Amino acid sequence: MENEFEKIIITKEQIKEIVQRLGKQISLDYKGKDLVVIGMLKGAMPFMMDLIKEITIPIQIDFMQISSYHGGTTSANIVFKKDIEINVMNKHVIIVDDIVDSGITMNEVMSLFATRKIASFEAACLIDKPSGRRLDFKPKYVGTTIEGGFVVGYGLDYDERYRNLPYVAILSKKIYEK
Ligand code: IMP
Ligand code: MG
Repeated sequence: MENEFEKIIITKEQIKEIVQRLGKQISLDYKGKDLVVIGMLKGAMPFMMDLIKEITIPIQIDFMQISSYHGGTTSANIVFKKDIEINVMNKHVIIVDDIVDSGITMNEVMSLFATRKIASFEAACLIDKPSGRRLDFKPKYVGTTIEGGFVVGYGLDYDERYRNLPYVAILSKKIYEK
């Protein structure tokens, strides 16, 4: 399995540092506020689970699922598959995702929440890949920023594989270019 990856870019130890840092920051920023943390299924799952355990203020959590018709390394048309169940009116919202690449997903989610009379909207992502942007978007809480490449692990998939890895690695081009 090792040569499926070019290299590991976020180790288990670095993930721990990231979730501690972001959890602490979110706890400070939203002290005394009504916060709902919403995870994007399925990619955000491992990151979300670790992150919320580092948040020390009372919060609510929920999940939403969007699918973009793709099996490969680019996002395409977006379809909303599962909505949240919590009423978010007048509440502060943080959307958690594995990665912000083109920014299309986050822009779609932001437009949806704009219709829901929320108090504020921010995003938290494990990885920011600004070089991939097609629509402007700036996640406030970022684990790490990468230049490019296709990454897998800790929620991130290639064709539904590799989500269970406890680290993030750059997938070898020979896996997705064959
Ligand atoms: P965006 O809509 O292009 O910003 O991309 C968001 C979604 O595309 C993420 O939630 C991922 O599911 C997927 N994605 C983008 N880049 C990568 C990557 O390098 N590895 C795995 N999934 C990715
Ligand atoms: Mg995905």
